[in-house]
Amino acid sequence: MACSEGAAANPPHVPVLLSPILAAVAPVRGTWVDGTFGAGGYARGLLDAGAERVIGIDRDPSAFALAAEWAETYGDRLTLIEGRFGDLDAHAGGPVDGVVLDLGVSSMQLDQPGRGFSFQKDGPLDMRMGDDGLSAADLVATGSEGDLADILYHYGEERAARRIARALVRARDEAPILTTRQLAGIVEGCLPRPKPGQSHPATRSFQALRIAVNDEFGQLVQGLEAAERALAPGGWLAVVSFHSLEDRIVKRFLQQRAGGGGRANRYAPETPETAPRFVPEGRAVAADAAEIAANPRARSARLRLARRTEAPAGPADRGRLGLTVLDM
Ligand SMILES: C[S@@+](CC[C@H](N)C(=O)[O-])C[C@H]1O[C@@H](n2cnc3c(N)ncnc32)[C@H](O)[C@@H]1O
Repeated sequence: MACSEGAAANPPHVPVLLSPILAAVAPVRGTWVDGTFGAGGYARGLLDAGAERVIGIDRDPSAFALAAEWAETYGDRLTLIEGRFGDLDAHAGGPVDGVVLDLGVSSMQLDQPGRGFSFQKDGPLDMRMGDDGLSAADLVATGSEGDLADILYHYGEERAARRIARALVRARDEAPILTTRQLAGIVEGCLPRPKPGQSHPATRSFQALRIAVNDEFGQLVQGLEAAERALAPGGWLAVVSFHSLEDRIVKRFLQQRAGGGGRANRYAPETPETAPRFVPEGRAVAADAAEIAANPRARSARLRLARRTEAPAGPADRGRLGLTVLDM
């Protein structure tokens, strides 16, 4: 069924790598979970391609307000649930034929200064995708210098993590750090001016704080495990990530679930082989030149696809996923 003209004419978020997903999983059949509903681009794509039912999950309640205009045209084929994809098997309530995860933040979240995700717009230093938990301002106000350095280093790969953490602690002793502009200014003061073509100096610090505020890596592993529990044999898993830290977790999870042995590190014993729970389908897929030209956000996107086998689900070996979960 076609979506409403208004929503189609001005999509608030352009879906990334949707065409290669639909091509790989064709023919689309049965029940799918879209664990990162956002503006609903994936959910609509799946429904229009033939999915009988889509369960759309998002931790951001404001995502569903945007969808209200067109969602009802799909009737009971589309169910919307406010929640986290780490619990997607419970939300699905039974076996499903496919799970899609399009990680990170939506354009709507980035574009609203009041959400505090962007250093390009001044606003409160919030960065929460949902409306619960600590904000980025809380984290910056209460984290020890060591914790802040760990966040910046492990979640942003920021080499100047210690210098920036020291500057944050010094600045907050003078006045609370409450806005995106304040944070960006402090980070800029710690780093050399970017050369033409280089990203803004605050890019890595904003990414790191957002990941910490939303426990994005913890959610990703829980979401992959939940997908393994929810998928029927033969069911599809499609995950789109936007930076190498995320993609590494997805890649290692799929390698591990493909039943290979391996070691947590070179001193650890070889892990015994288990029956494959997923069969990865091909290598990571990147956006082609036409998609990147139309939507620059697609430049860093990587899609990984896999099919569920009949082997029983079980918890992942987190030590082998290269996952750093920092306890703050
Ligand atoms: C990149 S956008 C998805 C865009 C969507 N595929 C589309 O085409 O419109 C990511 C969305 O996932 C949501 N999200 C991120 N982490 C989540 C989680 N752990 N559980 C549920 N939703 C999450 C965000 O709130 C955001 O709306």
